[in-house]
Parts: sequence; C-alpha cells; structure tokens
Amino acid sequence: MNLEAARKRLWEARRVAVLTGAGISQPSGIPTFRDAAGLWKDFDIEEYATPAAYARDPQKVWEWYAWRYQNVMQAQPNRAHTLLALLEQRIGEGFLLVTQNVDSLHSRAGSQRLVELHGNIARGRCERCGERFPLPDPAHFVPPPYCPSCKARGRPDVVWFGELLPEGAFEQALWAFAEAEVALVIGTSAEVEPAASLGRLAHSSGAYLIEINPNPTPLSSQADCSLRMGAVEGMEALVGDLG
Ligand code: APR
Repeated sequence: MNLEAARKRLWEARRVAVLTGAGISQPSGIPTFRDAAGLWKDFDIEEYATPAAYARDPQKVWEWYAWRYQNVMQAQPNRAHTLLALLEQRIGEGFLLVTQNVDSLHSRAGSQRLVELHGNIARGRCERCGERFPLPDPAHFVPPPYCPSCKARGRPDVVWFGELLPEGAFEQALWAFAEAEVALVIGTSAEVEPAASLGRLAHSSGAYLIEINPNPTPLSSQADCSLRMGAVEGMEALVGDLG
C-alpha cells in the first residue's frame, strides 16, 4: 500500500497534479457513470451526450441536463473536495487540480487552481456567438436557455463524446502532469481519453503516482501507491492532518 511513502512524497512535493473523476463526488450523492448504479446504465450516451443527440432532440437533451443540474446543485462538497482545496493552499502555485467532473463541487469547496476538462453543468453556451453564461437557479430554470447577448438558444456548456476539450484546458493539464513530482488520481475509471492519459504521462515522466479508487483501473498497475478505498477515506489517510 505504501501509504507512509505516499504521505511523505506528497508532504515534500512542490509540484502536485491531481485528476478527479465522478467517484470523488459519489459520496456527495452524485451518481458516477460506469458503476453498477452509474448514469450510463440508465441513460444511453447516444441519446443524451453527443452532438447528434442534441441536434436530433435538443429539448430531450436539455431536460436531462436540467435534471442533473438540479441534483448537482442540491449536493454539497464532501471532505475529499475540502482536503484538495486545503492541499492547494499548502502547495500554492505548483498545484493544479484537473477535473472531468462538471458538478462545480471543487470550486464550491474552495479550489481555485482548477481546470474543468469537460465543462460545467451550471453553464450554458450560445449556439450562435459561443458566449458562456450561468444558468438560472435550478428552481427557476426551464430549458432551453437563451444567450444574454444575442438571444440565440444556448446548449449545455459540457463536452460531449466526440467533441474537443475547451481551448487550452488539456494543454494546461498536460504541462502540469508532465512536470509533477507527485500525481494524484482520484475516482476515475481511467477509461475516457484524453483525460485518462494524464496519469500515464506523469508516471512516464518520473512522478510518484498515487491512485485512490475502491476498484482497480487500467492505471492501477502503474501506481506507486494504490489506495483501494473511497475518496474521502483515501484523502483522510493521505492528508487528513491538513485541517
Ligand atoms: N471514491 C472514489 N472513487 C469511487 C467512489 C468513491 N466513493 N465510488 C466510485 N468510485 C470510482 C469507481 O470505481 C470508478 O472507477 O469512480 C470511478 C467512476 O468512473 P466513471 O463512472 O467512469 O467516471 P469517470 O471516470 O469520471 O468518467 C470519465 O466519462 O462519461 C464520461 O464525461 C463523462 O467525465 C466523465 C468521463
């Protein structure tokens, strides 16, 4: 398990890169995608999370995102989110948190050195001018939203399968993982590229790689320390003394 070695490495590191996936938000009551009770068990990606799905039936896609948006905004950040924000405060400019999650829980927990690779479910993006804008409070949100500037319809500001990541986001993530002394990968099945390549990049660049996941993933064999546990338990074991 190498927990003590991992704690020591993390404590001494000045450059730390973190990648999170849906598993870190599972303790906050937000479903993952590929677990037994994951979203993709009940909802077909081709019906809800591709540009073709949206072109075919924008209202159906928007109603699904409005439902997720309502659930997400009722959720609260958990101890794992909070400990990552405290770790960022301790390390400072050498810290970067890269998330695949669109649920805003990291920013609501106080994380600032944050890259949202897959966008954010609390925002719309204008189909005509591309402006990003906050969605109304979930209680008052009746989809679809319209651009505050040009009044055209907005789409969910999330990355669908087959779409490019937000401009510059992955480049920023690549640099951080290539330069990291310690890479920490939490709550992701490590199945979706290009995010899944970040842990491998850090490992091949000589970083000490820590994974927190109750289940093994394709990354587990490369991890220097695999904590086979939940995100809250794993972060508590690694850096619980941060506060
Ligand atoms: N703590 C930590 N990890 C957990 C927990 C927990 N409490 N519960 C589940 N997990 C792990 C699961 O073992 C699994 O490996 O979280 C992972 C969730 O995997 P996915 O559901 O595939 O989610 P993710 O890896 O974030 O998916 C990546 O795929 O569908 C797209 O855009 C979507 O961003 C998402 C991307």
